[in-house]
Amino acid sequence: MNDVYILGIESSCDETSVSIVKNGCEEIATVVLSQIDTHANYGGVVPEIASRMHVENITIVVEECLSRAQMTMDEITAIAVTYGPGLIGSLLIGVVAASTLAYIFHKPLVPVHHIAGHIYANNLEKKMEFPLIALVVSGGHTDLIYMKDNYCFSKIGGTLDDAVGEAYDKVARVASIPYPGGPLVDKLSYEGVDAYPLPLPLDDDSYNFSFSGLKSAVINLVHNEEQRGNTVNKADLACSFQSRVVEILTKKTMRALKEYDVKNLIVAGGVAANSGIRNRLKELCQEQSVNLTVPSLKYCTDNAAMIATAGYFAYNLGRRAGYDLKALATTKLN
Ligand code: KG4
Ligand code: ZN
Repeated sequence: MNDVYILGIESSCDETSVSIVKNGCEEIATVVLSQIDTHANYGGVVPEIASRMHVENITIVVEECLSRAQMTMDEITAIAVTYGPGLIGSLLIGVVAASTLAYIFHKPLVPVHHIAGHIYANNLEKKMEFPLIALVVSGGHTDLIYMKDNYCFSKIGGTLDDAVGEAYDKVARVASIPYPGGPLVDKLSYEGVDAYPLPLPLDDDSYNFSFSGLKSAVINLVHNEEQRGNTVNKADLACSFQSRVVEILTKKTMRALKEYDVKNLIVAGGVAANSGIRNRLKELCQEQSVNLTVPSLKYCTDNAAMIATAGYFAYNLGRRAGYDLKALATTKLN
């Protein structure tokens, strides 16, 4: 069988990324151009600035990726692109770039859901074995997904309000920890102790999550301490917050594995970079003989290698888009 080279494009938020992946498992070259330093000045992603920067960068990133791979468009089998969910102005740039390339070079265009990309990032580490449970934790998602086979996604639970990454970023902001707060809160948590009595959120029999109550508890705690003239110990706060997040995520994930009688667990999304979640799941999966796969750190946050990888499986299943592919700000995982 001929090798399949997918050129993936990701631009759903503030990273302009292009990657070439061979046969859905071997990264040939990836370029990620992050806008994080620009958005950090505003304490969060400014959508209008993000899309303008994608426009400026997309062609350069495509050319740089081909050059690093030492390949030409002739050698590319198909083009995969994130069509949603994400910031509409940002998504549009990637979608227009991908459909233009597909049209000019007569390549199939493969639509990829952003979360499918995060999930398939795991195939760059190890061949994904089914059935599996995927814990998807990002800036926009907190989902537990059962997968019977490739591209068969059944959501068994999700957040009722804030996504876990969003809660990390908001907690960081109230504690005056610079954007993006997630990685810094994670780091700081190891310098403190679990001293603050924060609630364990939505500790019930469902597979749903809720982080807005925990976030509000942190905000109230910080404001109350400030009004009393006390300083909050940021490291203790980070540790207390992270302890609750890790406890509830891992508790429900391990229960899902048991109930669905599944022995394969993958973690996906930007918050999969969190060391508390990675370490605790490693311990629990070892105890319960579950095969755990987590993406290496570079594949946790947004990147096009994950889109090219998911694109390979979508391509093999015959998924194709027309040149009029629409970007969608919200869309169900499928
Ligand atoms: O998947 P991603 O790059 O973008 C979305 O699709 O949302 O995830 C970004 C999120 C941000 O909220 C960021 O703060 C969080 O992932 N994040 C972390 C860590 N690294 C990134 N959260 C907690 N601990 C980390 N180490
Ligand atoms: Zn993402």
